[in-house]
Amino acid sequence: MAIREVLRMGDPRLLEVAVPVSDFDTPELHALIQDLMDTMCAEDGVGLAAPQIGVGLRVVVFGFDENIRYPDAEAVPQTVLVNPVIEVLAGDREDDWEGCLSVPGLRGVVSRFTRIRYTGYDHLGSPLERQAQHFHARVVQHECDHLDGILYPQRMTDMRRFGFTEVLQADWQIK
Ligand code: NI
Repeated sequence: MAIREVLRMGDPRLLEVAVPVSDFDTPELHALIQDLMDTMCAEDGVGLAAPQIGVGLRVVVFGFDENIRYPDAEAVPQTVLVNPVIEVLAGDREDDWEGCLSVPGLRGVVSRFTRIRYTGYDHLGSPLERQAQHFHARVVQHECDHLDGILYPQRMTDMRRFGFTEVLQADWQIK
């Protein structure tokens, strides 16, 4: 399959609302998911959404055992999630640093719901349901935002906590 170019912030395709997948277990869907996985791994991402490679479908992939971009993050299972729906399980939120392959070289603090349930389908159309918290929940919320044309800077409320990864690392604000 293929490592695809990741669109960067400023590209209007990242601001579009993606459409649901209607046909599962098709060669096109399998190829899309493989490309998303290949591209995510090549870029050391923890997740990637189809709109980031210019495909306006409600498909995200995420997961890792260890990740060099987020060394303190707990492992998240490798997941393909099609037509996802997020349900917030509690109103509590937490702030943490986020990055995005479409916003390279930068990190910002975003408030996300701490505990969620997410449902959707895998590439074959089998239903999937999971509860997640903390970093896992953050990744899912971040990736699903891409399907609604939302990049994490749009979620930020304190732009003082937005900066270049290298500078933040040098200042020990992030690892
Ligand atoms: Ni992203």
